[in-house]
Amino acid sequence: MKKIEKVSIQHPEQPQILLGGITPGQFLANYWQKKPLLIRGAIPDFKGLLSPDELAGLACEEDVQSRLVSYVRGKWKLENGAFDEVRFSKLPKKSWTLLVQSLNHHLPQAADLMQQFDFIPHARLDDLMVSYAPDGGGVGPHFDSYDVFLLQGMGKRLWRVSEQQDLSLVEGAPLRILQNFTTEQEWLLEPGDMLYLPPHVAHWGIAVGECMTYSVGFRAPSMQELATQFFAYLEEHLSVAGVYADPDLKLQKHPAKISKDMVARVTQKLKKIQWGERDVGDFLGCYLSEPKAHIVFDAPNNIDIAEFQQRMEQGGVGLSLKSQALFHGKSFFINGEQLEMPPAYANLLKLLADQRRLSAENIIEHQLAEPSFIESDWVEIFYLWYQAGYIEFS
Ligand code: SIN
Ligand code: CO
Repeated sequence: MKKIEKVSIQHPEQPQILLGGITPGQFLANYWQKKPLLIRGAIPDFKGLLSPDELAGLACEEDVQSRLVSYVRGKWKLENGAFDEVRFSKLPKKSWTLLVQSLNHHLPQAADLMQQFDFIPHARLDDLMVSYAPDGGGVGPHFDSYDVFLLQGMGKRLWRVSEQQDLSLVEGAPLRILQNFTTEQEWLLEPGDMLYLPPHVAHWGIAVGECMTYSVGFRAPSMQELATQFFAYLEEHLSVAGVYADPDLKLQKHPAKISKDMVARVTQKLKKIQWGERDVGDFLGCYLSEPKAHIVFDAPNNIDIAEFQQRMEQGGVGLSLKSQALFHGKSFFINGEQLEMPPAYANLLKLLADQRRLSAENIIEHQLAEPSFIESDWVEIFYLWYQAGYIEFS
């Protein structure tokens, strides 16, 4: 697999080649969630991160989410992986595409590529998807409900884009295909070119010869989903005192009737249940760092805590590819778990979440800056995460 250069977090106000020479601030103000942006040579000399064969290999693995979309005799067909190798030998020459989700969970270079998009908060980043298509292949005209950066890897892809209002879908199709797509703009993307699309902009990518496209996708949970998840979180974390009581109970004509008094009494009590920004922040931290259902963390080498500390202090440590770490206020979240950040190493935890790794120098510098660090329980906490497969040696 090919290497790309490791990236460090860039200054937010520096113009970036990745964004066509504008700063992340300008991008956010003028394009993010607003309008498409075509960037020629966003990653100069980008040839992609893996070959079509390597991608097919990934699509055969059980813990990798993959899809095969084909267009056969006027009908769209969708198959979900994992695939058997022989499936690929039976494919036609044209008009299909293989999509692999969350490449950043499987390939360190893909995680590094995603880090170039650090000007968008980690809480909004979803994953890096990669597609391969022979000539004419693609997933058809559609729209997504999230923002996406479409980075061209190997080969060329023609993107047709439309900001049309009519977003009606073909009924009964196994994937979301627009019934009426009208091309408003058309661009041929070559390796290293990138197209940013806000949510709901209709698009249709057609492979021109063999091609591979990398999509950096963002999270956009519906408000219904957020509310449902928040109330589930509250249910687990809420404690309400008291017992229902009615010392003034009146005789009822209908014993089966729920009286107005009872409804009013419970309404009044329930209205007293309150939550604030801290609860919402804690909920978001747990919910947004929660691994998706299919994710399994790999078991690490069995080493004792002394060896763990030595290796960590010599070579640094990083989040494992499948880990998500966020922080809010005094709370740190890793893979759905919450930790009140001890002041002795809160800054180190924030650095780990921001950079996804800590170098040996980061640890030494922190040791010098924070005298209470050595006596703290940081090694024990990091060792627990190591054993859970959440962090690993870089
Ligand atoms: C693709 O890579 O083929 C599809 C990406 C997209 O349209 O969102
Ligand atoms: Co799309």
